[in-house]
Amino acid sequence: MNSRRRYWWIAVMLGLILGQFAWSQSSSGQTSAQTLRAAAGSFLIGSAADSDFWNFSDAAQYEAILGGQFNIYTPGNQLKWDAVHPQRTSYNFTPVDRHIQIAKSYGQQIHGHTLLWHQQNPGWVANQTWTASELTNILYDHIDTVVGRYKNDIAIWDVANEVFDDSGVYRRSFWYNTIGQSYVELAFKRARQVDSDVVLIYNDYNIEEINAKSNAVYAMAKDFLARGIPIDGIGFQMHLLGSGINYNSFAQNMQRFADLGLKIYVTEADVRLQLPATSASLAQQATVYQNVLDRCLRQPACQAFQFWGFSDKYSWVPSTFPGYGAALIYDEQYNPKPAYTAIYNRLLQGRSTTPTPTPNATSTPTAQPTNTPTASATPTQAAPQPKLILSAPSQVTLGQVFTLTIQYVNIGLQYTTVTSSPAGLVQLDPPLSMPCKYNQHPTQCKNITFKATALGTVQLNASATGEVPIAGGGWTWGGALAQNPVSVTIVNSTPTPTNTPTPTPSPTPTSNACSVHYTIASQWNTGFIGNVIVTNTSNTPINGWALNWNFAGNQQIINGWNSSLTQTGNAVVAGNLSWNSVIAPQGSASFGFQASYSGANAVPASFILNGVACSIVP
Ligand code: XIL
Repeated sequence: MNSRRRYWWIAVMLGLILGQFAWSQSSSGQTSAQTLRAAAGSFLIGSAADSDFWNFSDAAQYEAILGGQFNIYTPGNQLKWDAVHPQRTSYNFTPVDRHIQIAKSYGQQIHGHTLLWHQQNPGWVANQTWTASELTNILYDHIDTVVGRYKNDIAIWDVANEVFDDSGVYRRSFWYNTIGQSYVELAFKRARQVDSDVVLIYNDYNIEEINAKSNAVYAMAKDFLARGIPIDGIGFQMHLLGSGINYNSFAQNMQRFADLGLKIYVTEADVRLQLPATSASLAQQATVYQNVLDRCLRQPACQAFQFWGFSDKYSWVPSTFPGYGAALIYDEQYNPKPAYTAIYNRLLQGRSTTPTPTPNATSTPTAQPTNTPTASATPTQAAPQPKLILSAPSQVTLGQVFTLTIQYVNIGLQYTTVTSSPAGLVQLDPPLSMPCKYNQHPTQCKNITFKATALGTVQLNASATGEVPIAGGGWTWGGALAQNPVSVTIVNSTPTPTNTPTPTPSPTPTSNACSVHYTIASQWNTGFIGNVIVTNTSNTPINGWALNWNFAGNQQIINGWNSSLTQTGNAVVAGNLSWNSVIAPQGSASFGFQASYSGANAVPASFILNGVACSIVP
């Protein structure tokens, strides 16, 4: 991984120079520094490439943009089965080799699409009856041959594409019908055996928001990780309508995958407009692109933003969605559209963490509808610091099992060692051997449970070794020690008479210091997604919070994000995580969960924050 990344990085720098050169040769009006890849720095910005584009009449112009603007490249069709594996015993690598040679000449990373799909399969495999073991062997032969051949070239593989239908059920493809749902994990395992380095992702559309389909992908990924099936990331295809998506839901969705330790890739973005496009719809499109990129850049796990093509002249949209088109960032004459400018400007800002003022698809367009990006120096970047942030209850009682939560910032798959001192006050419960290996225990390594076994105050600290960012981009193997160990005091369960009972973290118990907005973001027969926004309506910050409510019916939380949730019977407690423990005056914390329910899914009647009842905002 390391050496490949290093060489890749040298190649990128070279390609950046070459690519910009190509661009300045072929375009008018823009200077060489004004490329998306220059604005992106170490972030991956990319496009799919059309089949045999080198035969287009405008091939030179096409290639200049493809090579000059982007730092990651996906052959759009020619790695699909029908193209690369037309007969059982013959492969057609000629066009793929050409794509790879072109991408490499521009120092681009290469994204392979795709090893498994229910579409674009040759008749010899899709239209015959096979036994499960015959078809598995055919799949293995394909993966061995294709992944093996491009082992040193392809950095990311879409191992499986569009396995689920929109209701989250496994598609009844010939793969599924013949092998059963294990075909997906067999492909991931085989690809890992062939290339121990490559990033293996699951790719799908309509999984950007939290919904039944993304829940199915989430459940599959979680199950894979728990069983040691190799999976490194999720590809959100991002084929959108001009109305956009719910960006909060997208952010929360990315977060839950990131919490599993997975990387996120936007793989096939396009935003289709009803034709003819108008200046208003083009401005709206620019906003949609900018908002999606914005949420991706704010999510440290989001690695790449790739378009499914770049010019409206060559896009799959008009033929697939009649009446729609104009979905990409250049028009049919290769002029950058407002969407280009919006993307360019957002890339320049980097991975900003300031709050976003316009969270929804319906927000007012903010992109400048001009065609010329403003010139700006290529940002030089210091390496983001890897950090471990620890949190644990400050006081527990003897015998209590409590959780040390570790937040990993700027550190990839890792081994973590947790230490406690002095010895003998706590023990790991359940026992967990150190270092805790993230690949094996993605959840436990973030939530380490201890039992308090003796009275006193114990210091807990953690160190991790894993992939950490390097200056200018890329990753290397490194380490991080938590800067702030946490101390936990273990007391007897019966408080001494002089002690006033210590309530759970309680800030200023002024009345009505909070309001709560509880919404059901989506609901299906047996489950729903709840979102909660807690607002501090007082004039003092809330330092540490716990929100209590009772479900009125049969709701049962399955998992959540952005808070630590526990449910006992009907009673729920949502506690802060370390990074959202402070709610500034008039500020908010939002979190969400997935729950099952039966009967009426009534909204809770009251919410109590740190012991104080909150008003309810409908
Ligand atoms: C599309 C191609 O762009 C078309 O040229 C082809 O005819 C059909 O496939 N999701 C995917 C891509 O994963 O492979 C699809 O590409 C677009 C939707």
